[in-house]
Amino acid sequence: MANCGGITILAVMVIMVSHKLAAAFQDCHNINSQHSLDLDQIMGDWYAVEIVRHNRIVEKNTISTVLDVCPVLRLIRDDNTTIRLFWNEKKGDLIYKFQQPKATHAGFWNCVGPQNGTLAKLMKKPFSGTVQVMKAVSSHMVLTFCSRTDDEIYSVLMSRNRKLQHNDVKSVNSMLERRGLPRGHVEEMCKGSAAPTANSMGCLATTTVLTASLLMQFVSNLRY
Ligand SMILES: *[C@@H]1O[C@H](CO)[C@@H](O)[C@H](O)[C@H]1NC(C)=O
Ligand SMILES: *[C@@H]1O[C@H](CO)[C@@H](O)[C@H](O)[C@H]1NC(C)=O
Repeated sequence: MANCGGITILAVMVIMVSHKLAAAFQDCHNINSQHSLDLDQIMGDWYAVEIVRHNRIVEKNTISTVLDVCPVLRLIRDDNTTIRLFWNEKKGDLIYKFQQPKATHAGFWNCVGPQNGTLAKLMKKPFSGTVQVMKAVSSHMVLTFCSRTDDEIYSVLMSRNRKLQHNDVKSVNSMLERRGLPRGHVEEMCKGSAAPTANSMGCLATTTVLTASLLMQFVSNLRY
């Protein structure tokens, strides 16, 4: 815990300088996600190389944090309109279930029920809301999560390879900005440094939990 001091202070600072713009994207109906999509092309394994938290707007500069994790995301099709997402990282796993409610809007998914997996138990509340496919090409795709329960909006940039070309990352980020999703706070992953030690993983988990609870507090302060 002693070694966590610096990271914890940083996490607190990130929260202190951030604002919430929840009302601006209610339900994410106008973010222009993909209407047509070849579902079979996006199934299988991806690496989560970046998470952009759009409603943590940072004064002046985007704050970018490199996380020493590299989650593997597996998309599986249950049936015609049901998709399951398995999120796997060292800390544990999380399983989401999605349904495509609109035949003419294949990139619009509703999250069905609470999540399963070991990470689900660590979440304060399960994710509930919509997930939208903003881009899907052979090398990478982007899913935007719009939470109904806590107004969080974040996009996950997924790559077939551990490393995604810098230009692809840049173009995804400008595309999201053009569609009204600001850059906010960026978490970079799969940077491929040495394997994290058990200690630093524990530290990261502690910081994540602390950050989450501080954020919850910050959000409720803003609301009431
Ligand atoms: C999915 O359902 C739609 C309409 O319900 C149908 O047209 C389509 O062929 C089905 N696709 C598959 C792969 O079963
Ligand atoms: C979680 O597990 C329950 C019980 O097995 C199942 O009914 C539900 O569909 C699962 N949900 C997800 C998101 O996988």
